[in-house]
Amino acid sequence: MRILIESDAAAAAKCCAELISDLVREKPDAVLGLATGGTPVQCYHQLIRMHQEEGLSFRQIRSFNLDEYVGIAPDDENSYRHFMNQQLFQHIDIDIANTSVPNGMTDDLQAAGLEYEAQIADAGGIDLQLLGIGRDGHIAFNEPGSSLASRTRVKTLTDETLRDNARFFASVQEVPTTALTMGVGTILDARHCVLLATGAGKADAIRDAIEGPITSQVTASALQLHPKATFVLDADAAGLLKRRSYYDRAR
Ligand code: GLP
Repeated sequence: MRILIESDAAAAAKCCAELISDLVREKPDAVLGLATGGTPVQCYHQLIRMHQEEGLSFRQIRSFNLDEYVGIAPDDENSYRHFMNQQLFQHIDIDIANTSVPNGMTDDLQAAGLEYEAQIADAGGIDLQLLGIGRDGHIAFNEPGSSLASRTRVKTLTDETLRDNARFFASVQEVPTTALTMGVGTILDARHCVLLATGAGKADAIRDAIEGPITSQVTASALQLHPKATFVLDADAAGLLKRRSYYDRAR
């Protein structure tokens, strides 16, 4: 595991965007796994800036998002599809037909999960998967107790996640209680996993993910099993790491 600790959230976002842009330059038809939430927004701003100012092109990029709420239509402003269009896709030259977000609007969610897995496999697998982390240590919507071998399927969201995500909705009652999400196993299949975390609110989860035991109670801890996992943190998110000086020396 590489642990990259930056001074603040802006520097962490830039570092994360550079990992992505290095891949896009090296492999213009790369398959990216993308994430939603507040954390990646600054990273997406950096990618948009690189597209506008440095000619970084996403024309041949294929993308798969981690998750989508069940029962929220793609054109609903609370959908993760809408978020991705607004925060990234409409500002870069990616072909929108090459961007995928799980379909949370179908009657057969199990089939939709299997189909998503098949689409990822058909695309040749994910080269780089961007991840955030929930305060309980979840990645995508793999809440505590999710199997570390899980694949794309429906998960029920915890009360803590519902409360955390209520800030994007009019009230907590409006947050969907289930989501269609890549599994931990799906995420671990990516050739490179990059987890971005910023702010003191993530410090417990980051400590547990990096220095705690591998456990389904903290699904981000499964990244310890991955041959190429990179954590990009700001100083606040890294605040509870015991081996911080070693990580700084080893980078
Ligand atoms: C949701 C998403 C996760 C994200 C998490 C943290 O649960 N499914 O992918 O990592 O929120 O989001 P934020 O970056 O807003 O803290």
